[in-house]
Amino acid sequence: SSLVCFPFKEEDVPTFVRNIQSAASHERVGAVICVGFSRGVTWHGILAAIPDIEAVYKKPVILAEKKRHASTGLRAGKGDGMNTALEYFLHHPEFTRLHFYDSDIVSFSRDWITKAEVCTDAGGYDVVRHYYPRSSTDAMITWFVTKVGFALLWPDSVLPCIEQPLGGELCLSRKAVQTLFADRRVRDQAGWGIDTLYTFVAAQAGLRLAEVYIQEGKIHSLYSGLSDLKTMLVECFSAIQLLRHDDVPVSKIQYSIEPPQPVPKRLKQKVGYDIEKTLKLLRMNWTPRQWELLQQHFDPVLVKGLQQASEWPSWMWADEAAWMAAYPVFLNNFQMGDTDWEEILFKVWVGRVLNYTLRDVVRGYDAAIDTLREMVNNTCNLATKREVEMYQNGK
Ligand code: DGY
Repeated sequence: SSLVCFPFKEEDVPTFVRNIQSAASHERVGAVICVGFSRGVTWHGILAAIPDIEAVYKKPVILAEKKRHASTGLRAGKGDGMNTALEYFLHHPEFTRLHFYDSDIVSFSRDWITKAEVCTDAGGYDVVRHYYPRSSTDAMITWFVTKVGFALLWPDSVLPCIEQPLGGELCLSRKAVQTLFADRRVRDQAGWGIDTLYTFVAAQAGLRLAEVYIQEGKIHSLYSGLSDLKTMLVECFSAIQLLRHDDVPVSKIQYSIEPPQPVPKRLKQKVGYDIEKTLKLLRMNWTPRQWELLQQHFDPVLVKGLQQASEWPSWMWADEAAWMAAYPVFLNNFQMGDTDWEEILFKVWVGRVLNYTLRDVVRGYDAAIDTLREMVNNTCNLATKREVEMYQNGK
């Protein structure tokens, strides 16, 4: 049978309880494990709800606190939680598959589990990932950091094709769990970098991969200003940076994707973050050292753009070409934990997201998504061309 894991921090308890019930009610599921960041309000809410759920569904619901697996000084977070579930699964050979779902998904249902189970049965996949339509202003780290990074560094691998490489909804075979947990790089990702590492290591190991489509989308809490996403941005970028010298063996990849369906109107109309609050971010938290670092490492046009933006809302400087030029500079020089570097990365990314929002999203949902897809394609093409040229030049 399968084990379902919900990692959590502080969530809406009724939503979370409903999700545990949905999972426990599924005939393929043998047990549910909820891995908590700490013993807070949500922990106690779930603890109180467990006896009833176990009595109704006659299955164990395990409540565990995350364990520290990382040997580095990284901030504890989602990664430690997910890795705790990997370890638990490895100690329990009675389970054949391990599913992960975010605990705050309002639209979660048994169908999500069924889809992954049916797909795994049919294709013998090691990793089945759920993907779903998202608002055109959601997924701004996914598009601008992860997908662009994958395209730039591994343009001819499966990585840039993966729809939602940071998605926390997936189903793993025992082989996949073993592969992931055996990898020190995975165990070291204590925080938001975990999703990047699961995606990357699975691709690098040549595990069989499929994506299934959830049409209703993932309804969950969205963000206020983009500052809510700063830690996630830094950790996701740093995960890519860590991997930048590694190869992904192209020929080994086996991949299938369920085609998408029309995007619900509700999602097409949703704005993913607070634009007005975000506009102010480019004027805040400047230090003299940030200007020095910018001048030392980046294109003068970008620096000039940021200077303007530090005085008055402006975003025209942060177009696709500017981001493509800045990304490799960050790959080579960014230092996680250095607050000035983190702030520069954040500001350039905020500028890029605003530029996209105010030039592309205003043209409508479909035009916006097309721009994002084109950006990833363009990046793949440029990176491939560069590789071919290097090869031809004998480098
Ligand atoms: C992403 O970019 O995918 C993050 O979930 C923020 O939306």
